[in-house]
Amino acid sequence: MNAAPDTLPQPISETSDAPLILALPKGRILKALGPVLERTGLFDDGSAIGEGTRSLRFPTLDPNVDVVRVRSFDVATFVAHGGAQIGVCGADVLMEFDYPDIYAPLDLGIGGCRISIARPVGSGQHDTTAASSHLRVATKYPTITRRHFAAKGVNAEIVHLHGAMELAPTLDMASIIVDLVDTGSTLKANGLRETDVIAHVTSRLIVNRVALKTRPDAIRALIERFRNALQENAA
Ligand code: PRP
Repeated sequence: MNAAPDTLPQPISETSDAPLILALPKGRILKALGPVLERTGLFDDGSAIGEGTRSLRFPTLDPNVDVVRVRSFDVATFVAHGGAQIGVCGADVLMEFDYPDIYAPLDLGIGGCRISIARPVGSGQHDTTAASSHLRVATKYPTITRRHFAAKGVNAEIVHLHGAMELAPTLDMASIIVDLVDTGSTLKANGLRETDVIAHVTSRLIVNRVALKTRPDAIRALIERFRNALQENAA
């Protein structure tokens, strides 16, 4: 019988000379992150990353760090599966997936918003109490939503959407929604009002736990660059 090897072969991205992969989300977080990225020294113009190209992977000013630009929900998946060693995503995504392989060492304090319950303007509040033991909810956060209503003794039937859930109540797909709210203008434009805040959200720097063990110096140095950039940002 062959003896088990002492160490398993590492994927290319885990070798010490491959660049670290930093996963960044598209959209509003990236906009807020721009000045922080400039202060890390990784980019001259942090909010213009990837503009004008269909390419999804970019070099940075540091030859040891490349960036991939993916959907906010997918940042956590890329980092949890080791495709990226480090990333930035909202606390909402971490709450939803609760990946054991992810460590979130830094609250970046940007991208502030909330996960809230919203319902059509003019509708009553009664259907989210224990008096109503069943409720249909449209959301892109099935886990957070189920957990929230289960704690109130309400069985939430989830209509799982990936966007535009504001349409669901008017189209009779659900009576309420659970979604991210920032300015509230999307709710207002779609005849909804925010009734309860489930959680407040900011963006986090996240790290793959295995990569932190195999490449501790490179990853800790990058975390420190973000930490210093935040302090400069606040000064
Ligand atoms: C979020 C959320 C709402 C909107 C709320 O979507 O799902 O649709 O922002 O923002 P507001 O309160 O400022 O109007 P996002 O733009 O992040 O894109 P998504 O639909 O891809 O999730």
